[in-house]
Amino acid sequence: MALDERPVGKLDRALIFLGPPGSGKGTQAKGLAEQYGVPHLSTGDMLREHVTQGTPLGLKAKPLMERGELVPDSLVLKIVADRIERDDCFHGFVFDGFPRTVTQAKYLGELLKQHGFKFPFVIHMIIGTDVLMKRMTGRRVCPVGGEIYNVFDRPPKVEGICDVDGAKLIHRPDDREEVVGPRLHAYEKQTAPLVMYYRRLGYLHDVDARKSVDEVRQDIHQIVASIRGMR
Ligand code: AP5
Repeated sequence: MALDERPVGKLDRALIFLGPPGSGKGTQAKGLAEQYGVPHLSTGDMLREHVTQGTPLGLKAKPLMERGELVPDSLVLKIVADRIERDDCFHGFVFDGFPRTVTQAKYLGELLKQHGFKFPFVIHMIIGTDVLMKRMTGRRVCPVGGEIYNVFDRPPKVEGICDVDGAKLIHRPDDREEVVGPRLHAYEKQTAPLVMYYRRLGYLHDVDARKSVDEVRQDIHQIVASIRGMR
């Protein structure tokens, strides 16, 4: 189906969450993807799945992720290219944690063109590093539905248990205090240049990620609603 034949009101593009670890990308991306009925594509989740299953890719990624380093572009690009081939991506998707290098961003640009998507828009989550440590060390995640909690600010009703499906929550190994520093360093060195890259292209929309989850959600909703009709 050509782009112009796609139903009006759909996302029909990639929405990209760009921001440091712990800035709230996953928290917001999940809800937004549900709202638009498109998949939430977290390369971190995809890689963790490979690690859990012990695939060859997972075995390569595991030590890097444990040290807070990025996984090589070649491995990540293959996963993403395969994923967006699937039928559920036809009306667009929400990326969380991808792209993370200029190489990944350029490759994504080509992929989106090949698939006939409109230009992407990028939600840039702005936040100081002072609050990120608390957000990451306090994070707990549901291994079943991906629900995200925080023991300090967004605790589950019953400690350690997901409100939605009753699963036992996990503490990500890379959320340990000693791994947070290297992750922030990797962000500054390899991912932060994407802010300028996308700003120059005119795709970037800044969001104050220090606000509450609901306030950030509202700000993002307004941005997406205002530009959704653009071709
Ligand atoms: P990934 O899983 O993508 O992790 P990340 O980018 O480091 O981001 P996080 O998941 O830590 O944080 P988030 O911004 O999603 O915050 P969240 O919403 O959970 O990547 C993990 C690893 O995989 C990487 O280090 C790398 O090795 C590898 N990798 C992944 N993608 C890659 C790629 N493209 N290329 C190469 N390598 C790749 O929120 C955090 C906490 O804060 C939660 O507890 C939440 O409840 C709380 N919170 C959220 N919003 C708010 C708010 N507004 N107020 C108060 N608390 C809030």
